[in-house]
Formats: sequence, C-alpha cells, structure tokens
Amino acid sequence: MIDARDSALAGIASDFPILGRPTSRGHRLVYLDSAATSQKPRSVIDALSTYYEEYNANIHRGVYEIAARATDAFELARAKIATFINARDSEVVFTRNTTEAINLVAYAWGNANVKAGDAILVSELEHHSNLVPWQMLAQRTGAELRFIPVDERGLLVLEDLDHLLDGCKLVAIGHASNALGTIAPLDVIIPRAHAAGALVLVDGAQGAPHFGLDVKTLDADFYAFSGHKMLGPTGIGVLYAKHVLLDAMPPFLTGGDMIHRVGYRHSTFNTPPWKFEAGTSNVADAIGLGVAVDYLSNIGMDVVRQHERDLTAYALARLEEFEGRGLDVYGPRDADRISGVISFNLGDIHAHDLASILDTEGICIRAGHHCAMPLMDKMGWAATARASFYLYNTQADVDALMDGLHAAARIFKI
Ligand SMILES: Cc1ncc(COP(=O)(O)O)c(C=O)c1O
Repeated sequence: MIDARDSALAGIASDFPILGRPTSRGHRLVYLDSAATSQKPRSVIDALSTYYEEYNANIHRGVYEIAARATDAFELARAKIATFINARDSEVVFTRNTTEAINLVAYAWGNANVKAGDAILVSELEHHSNLVPWQMLAQRTGAELRFIPVDERGLLVLEDLDHLLDGCKLVAIGHASNALGTIAPLDVIIPRAHAAGALVLVDGAQGAPHFGLDVKTLDADFYAFSGHKMLGPTGIGVLYAKHVLLDAMPPFLTGGDMIHRVGYRHSTFNTPPWKFEAGTSNVADAIGLGVAVDYLSNIGMDVVRQHERDLTAYALARLEEFEGRGLDVYGPRDADRISGVISFNLGDIHAHDLASILDTEGICIRAGHHCAMPLMDKMGWAATARASFYLYNTQADVDALMDGLHAAARIFKI
C-alpha cells in the first residue's frame, strides 16, 4: 500500500477529524479535491479555538498579557512560515489568499513600475487569479499582455521565450497548474526572465502545499500562496517578496497598523512586512497557518511530494483500465511532471454528472472549468473532471475512485 510505505504518513488520515466522519449516505469520505482546498488536521483546528478561548485580543497595540501573547503568536507564525520557505521574517506579508497577494503586487508594484509599451508575460495555463489582475494592470497602464503558449499535452512551450521576454517587466507564472497539474520549469524561466531584466512572480497556490520551497534558491521575486490549500484555515495567505522590493514599493491598502506617523495631511509608513498589512489582521488564521506549517515540516515536504507522486502514478496506471472506452486524460500523463492533479473525461458522461455519481459514493472530485476558462476554450473542453491528491490520501482512495468510475461507466453503458 502506498500510504504504509512511508512511516511518516501511515495512518495520518486519523489526524483529520473530517476524514473519520461518514457521509450522510453512510460512506467513508473519499476527499479528492485538495487542489480546491485541503482538509485540516486536529492541531490546526485546536489552535483556532485555543486562540479564541484563551488569548483573543488585537495585536501590535495592547500592553496587557493576552494582547502580548496574541502578538507573539502572530509573529511566531510569520517566523515559522519564513523558515518553511527559507525567507526572512520581513519578507512574509500576510494576505487573505493567493488572489489578494497577486493583486497586492499588481497594484502596489505594478502601478509604480509598469508603463505603456512595457510587457507582462503570463502563460496560457494560468488560473484566473494570475490572469485577471494582469489584464487590469495592462488596461490601467497601456502595457502589453503576452502569453507563453501551452501545447496539446498541457506543457509550456519555451521556444520563443527570449522573444516573449523582450521589453518585459514582469513574468507571472503558476508553479503548477490547478487545471492540469503541469509543473512549470521555473528553473529555466526565472533565470531567463532575470537575464532579460524582468521580475518574476510565482503563483504558488499549487506549489507551496506540495513542494519543498526555498525561495532563495528559486530566486523568484514574488511568491504567492494560500493557507487553506496547505492544511491551514481559510482567509489567510502569504505574499513572499524580496525585502528590497517590499521596501521600495508603495503600500497597497492603507489605514491602521501600516503607518509610522500620521498627520492630518500626510503620513509615513511602517517598515515591511507591516507596511502591507493595513487594519486588524486575521490573527487566528495566521496562527493556524503557523501550526499547519509545523505539521507539514514534521512530516517533511520531500515525503509529501513523493507520496503524491506515487499516488498520481498509481491513479494514472489504473485509469488505463478505461482505455478504448472514451477516456481522455488531459495534461502530461507523467507523475514526475505534474503535481497531484489528474483532469479527465470519461466517454460522453458530462463531468458534472460524473462528479454527482461519485458523490453518492462519498467521493469528492471537482468538475468544471477550474478557473481556467481561457485554457478550456483554447483546448475545446467544455468541462473536465478533476481528482487531486494530498498527503492524507491513500491507495484505497484511488481504488474507490476507480470503483466509482466503473459504476458510472456501467450506468452510461460505456
Ligand atoms: C493555481 C491557482 N492560483 C490561484 C488560486 C487562487 O487561490 P485563492 O482562491 O486561495 O486565492 C488557485 C485556487 O484554486 C489556484 O489553484
């Protein structure tokens, strides 16, 4: 069994209370939608209630004991996240999620640095969150939006990269595609972008939860990710940015907590990261994300990645049972080139029907355009079914998915 091979992962599903609860139809919950949001371990859930029950107070202001404890816990969470990605504490800005982190860069850095005639380069694989903010920036400034093409296997085509980089101010690229799983060759793209004078933002929504991350080695200028996809609570995300960039950037949102001195007509601002954290922060969820990072660190991100890779390879192999029966698997069929995401369609069963049939067996998959409408339009896919794996999934979960697909194929006489 894939789950028992790594002692660090054997039986860890029991750390996740929701995975022990039967569905309303009495089935075991088979959760295969972690690319949308991950489940939460007991330690993260407990951290939230401990904060609210024992030391709920606003941070950075109060001098009393519980306010100091809340401030310390919040800043400790930042330090844990910084260590997790090998950044400095001052380079970790708390946001609501990946989307807000990308918008922060598009407004604060983009408005100050991008002008008419410049280019912004994204890829054809991007999630709407790493596309629409750049469309808006291009519209505000008159900059040109360019695209790294994707081929029919779902791989990025880098042949024209140097041409695409000519005159480019920023490359905004997903670490891994939520629609197809494709892992971007960041080790190629980032140095080439820098050599051409462009900065690089990585949309790490599908990266940070799955791969060991060292932002210094990666050398991305900005890296955005969401807590809820990596065992943490919803409503908390991170923008990593090189200190020198944060220092030079004007603030995004303004108001309380992000200031140094305020007069009636003029204000000066706090230093990074607080310059970018206006208003009362999401204290509880930041602390929860710190505990999620503890959980992942204790297991080891190399173990997480290996487990997901093995499960993906196993699922791809088992899907071959449907070969010749109208199975389409989208994206590279190579577990080394994808994160734990498999997008597919089975015969003429609509992806939503497939997801609904699987739901009756307690199996949760995603169906639709996966917030990548331009990619779906380009490829001519109306919708795909998507199964995505995380560290708590097991070979038995993949087997349950295959049983469910066989049942659906019988219903639709495929
Ligand atoms: C690749 C990618 N980028 C960005 C996002 C947006 O994340 P969030 O909704 O947490 O801001 C997602 C969410 O699915 C994603 O998969």
